[in-house]
Amino acid sequence: MSNLLENKVVVVTGAASGIGRAIAVSAARHGARAVLVSDIAEIPREGGTPTTQEIEALGVATRFVRADVSKKADVDALVDAAAEFGGVDVMVANAGITLPSDGADVDEDHYRRLMSVNLDGTLFSAQAAARQMKAGGKQGSIVLMASMGGIAGAGMTVAYSTSKGGVVVMAKALADALGPDGIRVDAVAPGTIDTHLLRNSPGIAEAAEGFRRRTPLRRLGKPSEIGDAVVWLGSDMSSYVTGISLIVDGGLLNVI
Ligand SMILES: NC(=O)c1ccc[n+]([C@@H]2O[C@H](COP(=O)([O-])OP(=O)(O)OC[C@H]3O[C@@H](n4cnc5c(N)ncnc54)[C@H](O)[C@@H]3O)[C@@H](O)[C@H]2O)c1
Repeated sequence: MSNLLENKVVVVTGAASGIGRAIAVSAARHGARAVLVSDIAEIPREGGTPTTQEIEALGVATRFVRADVSKKADVDALVDAAAEFGGVDVMVANAGITLPSDGADVDEDHYRRLMSVNLDGTLFSAQAAARQMKAGGKQGSIVLMASMGGIAGAGMTVAYSTSKGGVVVMAKALADALGPDGIRVDAVAPGTIDTHLLRNSPGIAEAAEGFRRRTPLRRLGKPSEIGDAVVWLGSDMSSYVTGISLIVDGGLLNVI
C-alpha cells in the first residue's frame, strides 16, 4: 500500500482484536519490516494467529508474543523479543479495557484493575520501548492509545475517562522526557470505533448510536482508520510531531 514504515519494526499490544489487530495489519500493509503481535491471550476474540497469518500473507515477518501489559516483566520480555528483528522502532501501547460497571461509584477492585491495564500498562510499554530505543541509538516513535473519553469526560465511564485523560498527559510528559533522545511520543484519541469493546461495554454500547447521530460524518469509525493514524505517527512523515493527541473521531468532539 505504501512504504511509510519501510524497515521499521513495530510492536503492538492488545493486538489480537479490534483496533490493535487493525494497527498491526496496517503496519504490515505500509511496509513494516516486522510486526510483533502481542496480547494477554492468544485467542481473546479475532485471535493472535489469524492476525499473524494475515501479516505473513503480506510477506512481513511477524510473531505472536503473549504479554499482560499490567506486568512490567511481561512487557520487558515483549520488547526484548523485538531484538530478534533489530529492535523496536514503533511501539504501540494499545491494550486497554473498559469495566462492566463504571461511573461515580465505581468499585475499588475494578478501578484498580482498569488503571493497572490502561495507565500502568501504557507506561510500562513506553518505558520498555524507550529503554531499548536509547540503547540502540534509535530515534523511534511511541504511540499511546487514549480515547475521546480522555479529552471530554463521561459520567458513565468515570474510571475509564480518568485513565485515558492520564494517557493524554502521559504522552506530553514522555515527549518532554524522551525528545532530547530523538524519541517521539504521541497519543491517538479514537471516537466511537466499531469493535468488540464498543459493542460489549455496558453504557458505551447504548450510547454509541447517539454518538453516531451527532458525529459530523454520521458513522462509526473503522479500526483500520485508527491503524492509518498510527502508521502516520509511527512514520517519518510526522518527524516534527511529538506530545500530541491525534483525535480520530469523525469530528464528534468538534460539535455541540
Ligand atoms: N472501540 C472504541 O470505540 C475505542 C474508542 C476509544 C479508545 N479505544 C481504545 O482502543 C484500544 C483498543 O480497544 P478495542 O476497541 O480494539 O478493544 P478490544 O477489546 O477489541 O481490544 C483490546 C485488546 O486489549 C487486550 N488486553 C486487555 N487487557 C490486556 C492486558 N492486561 N494485557 C495485554 N492485552 C490486554 C484484549 O485482550 C484485547 O485484545 C483500547 O485502549 C481502548 O480503550 C477504543
